[in-house]
Amino acid sequence: MKDFIAGLPKCELHLHIEGTLEPELKFELARRNGLRLPYAGVEQMRAAYTFDSLPSFLRIYYEGMRVLRTEPDFYDLAMAYLRKAAEQNVRYAEIFFDPQAHTSRGVPFDLVIRGLRRALMEAEARLGVRAQLIMCFLRDFQAEYAMATLLESLPYREWIAGVGLDSDERGNPPVKFAAVFERARQEGYLLTMHCDVDQDDAVEHIRQAVEDIGVNRIDHGVNILEDQRLVEVVLERGMGLTCCPISNGYVTDSMKAEGIRKLMDLGVRVTINSDDPAYFGAYVGENLEALQGALQLTGDELARLERDAFEIAWLPRHVKDAYL
Ligand code: ADE
Ligand code: ZN
Repeated sequence: MKDFIAGLPKCELHLHIEGTLEPELKFELARRNGLRLPYAGVEQMRAAYTFDSLPSFLRIYYEGMRVLRTEPDFYDLAMAYLRKAAEQNVRYAEIFFDPQAHTSRGVPFDLVIRGLRRALMEAEARLGVRAQLIMCFLRDFQAEYAMATLLESLPYREWIAGVGLDSDERGNPPVKFAAVFERARQEGYLLTMHCDVDQDDAVEHIRQAVEDIGVNRIDHGVNILEDQRLVEVVLERGMGLTCCPISNGYVTDSMKAEGIRKLMDLGVRVTINSDDPAYFGAYVGENLEALQGALQLTGDELARLERDAFEIAWLPRHVKDAYL
């Protein structure tokens, strides 16, 4: 089964580029930028990755990305991920980036997106991995800052497939960003939002994302199982959920494998992804292996997960068809 999973052509739809920053590259970037890290080395840094909730993970995630300063830093970050993706037979990826995590530190938007874009173009030509960017707003910042970021993105509209919403969910419901997402839709962006597993008001956040905002996809969203009516809406619309089993195991008490199984059985388009692989120690292949081990998935079922991922990808029909 390990070989079958390794050989499966994959589509990754839930991956934060800043969450792919491995300790080795963190040290390299710190050296290049003349920064001192408070760890003796890579092992000590990894040992400090002690999180058991979304907020405790996010503290370490934001601290870690402070070494990213220049256009080549963002290029190197994305290139390292895309090389890893190619090794795991990922054929297509939609990659989140968090511009406000950088602009709020004084790093210009232009430099962030140019570095990422340059890596994506090069990976497509040299590695055969196609990828697109999804710009996420940080929900724990004010809606006005998200709107300003949306406007700042417009000159780069052709480089961004859609927008998302991530970071700390507590007290930051989807409707806080209703005007931002409405404007994004008018600009032609596709829409997704994190509804992280087992967070406060998880089901109400999913309801708002689906009914009040009208998202095209939901990131995580396993708690939808608690509301049969919402499951029916998602089925009717053919909407997809981007689930991340190993991430779930870090920020909650379990991978939520049974919930993922239930969603598959109901016919929901569920996909398996890695979220923040450098922090959770697992890329998409390891996530598929873990889920397969927990649920005894067959080869057909694994292939269906990847088919559904290509099906809900933000690609024109004829491009998708070439992967299916
Ligand atoms: N930012 C990076 N990873 C995230 C996650 N899993 N949930 C919310 N925000 C994030
Ligand atoms: Zn995520």
